[in-house]
Amino acid sequence: MTRRDFPADFVWGTATAAYQIEGAIAEDGRLPSIWDTFSHTPGAVLGGDTGDVACDHYHRADADVALMAELGLAAYRFSISWPRVVPTGSGAVNQAGLDFYSRLVDRLLEAGIAPAVTLYHWDLPQPLQDAGGWTNRETAHRFAEYAGVVGRALGDRVGTFITLNEPWCSAFLGHSSGEHAPGHHDNAEALTAAHHLNLAHGLGASALRTVLPSTGKVMLTVNPSVARPASDSAAERDAARHVDAVANRIFLDPVFRSRYPQDLLDDLRHLTDWSFIRDGDARLIGVPIDALGVNYYTPALVAAGPATGPGAAAFPGTDLAHYVPQDGPYTAMGWRIEPPAMTELLLRLHRDYPDVPLVITENGAAYDDVVAPDGQVHDADRTEYLRTHLGAVHDAIKAGVDVRGYYLWSLMDNFEWAWGFSKRFGIVHVDFATQQRTIKDSGHWYRSVIAANALD
Ligand code: FCB
Repeated sequence: MTRRDFPADFVWGTATAAYQIEGAIAEDGRLPSIWDTFSHTPGAVLGGDTGDVACDHYHRADADVALMAELGLAAYRFSISWPRVVPTGSGAVNQAGLDFYSRLVDRLLEAGIAPAVTLYHWDLPQPLQDAGGWTNRETAHRFAEYAGVVGRALGDRVGTFITLNEPWCSAFLGHSSGEHAPGHHDNAEALTAAHHLNLAHGLGASALRTVLPSTGKVMLTVNPSVARPASDSAAERDAARHVDAVANRIFLDPVFRSRYPQDLLDDLRHLTDWSFIRDGDARLIGVPIDALGVNYYTPALVAAGPATGPGAAAFPGTDLAHYVPQDGPYTAMGWRIEPPAMTELLLRLHRDYPDVPLVITENGAAYDDVVAPDGQVHDADRTEYLRTHLGAVHDAIKAGVDVRGYYLWSLMDNFEWAWGFSKRFGIVHVDFATQQRTIKDSGHWYRSVIAANALD
């Protein structure tokens, strides 16, 4: 086989998120977020798991940075807990919260690891939710203030800031399907939230620009759906178009084209009159950004007509089109494994939004890992997933797509949202009873890929 080299300046990293790893939910001035409230709601998270302790990263950050150094990482994407830094969501800044991240950044830089900071990975301060959360336009302004606070404190040392992680999940899993915090079931609310998240991104990006040095990079991370029609019929091709509008272009078009797609507005007039979009919002949202973060795990298959049965009408527009089950092979999430769909996605983004460089900010797989009698974790299936998906990224680069880096999800096993600790995505195994970390075989493999800057 021929060796597949990556570009010389390609960035190799891993990713995590605050609520999934930190624990220490009531320490040093942190107050509850919507995920504290949600995870403590009976029935919301599998097994009643919560992020109260998670990976205890708040107390183990130094050792975790040492682990990253051992893996040979060049970069680390982590998120800031908004309720640690601005505990009530607005007003007073909690210096102790900022100090934790400042120290983490220093440790990373000492280890030669470039920090990439996500400002919002779903942990909205509870008091903001009590005032309407993302359905309240004011939340976007509070986000911009918080972005300015973090940018001012860390911008001298952090080169990359990501405003939001996967606004699709915040808007639709949070407000339509109710699988994520705040656990609501209201399609009109979900569309309102989507717009206010877009606004938060734009206002946050502008706030960052005013405080960051000119070298500071500002990004948004999305999880675009590779929505394929279940058949070649006109109805199902139109269903895929609709899902593309409500899952992808609802975020990408305002950001990169300063407008919402007309087909989206037309498709969903039975759910909302869109009056929450105000004159001038397009300009606020469509500010230039330096790169787009892309999270990819699996493609989607779409059929026409309303969803029926479990999960029916889970998202805005599922009365028009719905997701249908796909063939395997699957990961432990039940997600179909299809690396070429990742190449297809990157080519599509490059074609439709050609001016913005892309960064893979998440990609990875859950498997039911066990520590073997030899003390190691032999996760050959994860290594294979990673090898084939990195191959898909390489294919896209070869085809001319400007992909700047790859952040593997995840550095370590963690609190997988509604699935609790039952799904392991790490290349480092975490024993949640003892907090012992063990680098999995996939982690050793990733280290060798980074060292070679190539796939064999
Ligand atoms: C993404 C999330 C991330 C993690 C992975 C598996 O949607 O951004 O926090 O849960 O899925």
